[in-house]
Amino acid sequence: MDKMLVQGGNSLRGDVAVSGAKNSALILMFASLLAEGKHELTNVPNLMDVRSAKTLLEALNCKVEFSNGRLSIDVSKPEKLVAEYDLVRKMRASILCLGPMLSKYGEASVSLPGGCAIGSRPINLHLEALKAMGAEIEIDKGYVHAKCPRLQGTEILFEFATVGGTENVMMAASLAEGVTTIENAAKEPEIVDLANYLNKMGAKITGAGSSIIRIEGVEKLNATEHRVMPDRIEAGTLAIAGAITSGDIVIRDCEPLHLDALLSKLRDTGVGVHVESQSIAIKGVKEWRAVDITTAPHPAFPTDLQAQFMAFMTLANGTSVISETVFENRFMHVTELIRMNADITPKTRVAVVRGKPGGLVGAPVMATDLRASASLVLAGLAASGETEVNRIYHLDRGYEKLEEKLSKLGAKIKRIKE
Ligand code: EPZ
Repeated sequence: MDKMLVQGGNSLRGDVAVSGAKNSALILMFASLLAEGKHELTNVPNLMDVRSAKTLLEALNCKVEFSNGRLSIDVSKPEKLVAEYDLVRKMRASILCLGPMLSKYGEASVSLPGGCAIGSRPINLHLEALKAMGAEIEIDKGYVHAKCPRLQGTEILFEFATVGGTENVMMAASLAEGVTTIENAAKEPEIVDLANYLNKMGAKITGAGSSIIRIEGVEKLNATEHRVMPDRIEAGTLAIAGAITSGDIVIRDCEPLHLDALLSKLRDTGVGVHVESQSIAIKGVKEWRAVDITTAPHPAFPTDLQAQFMAFMTLANGTSVISETVFENRFMHVTELIRMNADITPKTRVAVVRGKPGGLVGAPVMATDLRASASLVLAGLAASGETEVNRIYHLDRGYEKLEEKLSKLGAKIKRIKE
């Protein structure tokens, strides 16, 4: 298994470009199943999860070509409307082929995605919504079997603003009979990107980005093309990399408006933040203040940046209280940061970080999930000595060439292939 060696102490300097958004590209790939014919997606990041989604689409009778950020998907009716376990277990977002397949072909069997390191990741809200639209849902031998000749538009109220649940319903409702409204919908930018793509396909969706989304079902959708939005979590991770190394960097090809919560918190710590329409400039400071964060659905502080921000707070002046309200087990990075001499007291969904400027010491650590691995790399950039981040395949799921991007900014980081 590959590992990353990081020598701490260099301040990052220079410009870096952000790749397309993993959490949009994956969903747009599954949305393509709603319309037979040739779809073209550009600005698609070359990640393990994207390659896994490509394999799943090929198993569903799509012809998929992917090179230089361009993904073409030629959709034909799947021979078997089944998303197999061995494909879904590799990438739990595969559950997002359920809504499109069910709505387009009247039935679908998708392996239950199961949990992951950060939580049990249930899909009850997805299934309850599809049932409310008329689907017969049965769970058997680890698969969700869904059937409905034509889904019926209805009113859906989510008890939690679930991103995946909102996406599955938007896709399913696009070909349903009548109007579907989603209340307490997720407002993440990826929801807006999906609505833009579906509307280009001929869907009639309004309200994406707000908590009430209206989808008027149509008879047919058509293949189309779309440029994937920039990855706001990669942009946020790079911003924190600039801050934690007291660096001076510019992050390009990003959408600063997607990162208001993070940028506001970085400013509160004393870091210089300057935004232009498509770029963010980070001017680090020698010492920074501790601030509290609470993760919650967009536009609040994103749970996907919590681990990275915690690494930043371990070196702050003062104590930071970090509350994780979205996932029940998203502090797996805490024990590893403690191995690097961080002073953190984890409780249930809250961690108290007593910052110590210059306090991190390089050590061998273990990545446990995608964003935890990013957190450990960032900590290594600012620690004294060498940090060895093991099981770096977690990082490869969601970051395209991160070590190259960081090296170009002056980081001393290399991948050891094992
Ligand atoms: C998406 O996951 C993202 N993944 C996650 O990014 C992100 O952390 C999450 O949204 C929150 O922003 C993709 O887009 C592929 P949710 P998703 O449904 O859709 C509970 C990363 O690091 N819930 O909003 O699974 C659930 O248990 C990944 O890139 C139910 O209880 O997120 C969790 O506690 C990690 N029942 C909370 O809601 C349901 O039916 C958030 O889940 C659905 C969700």
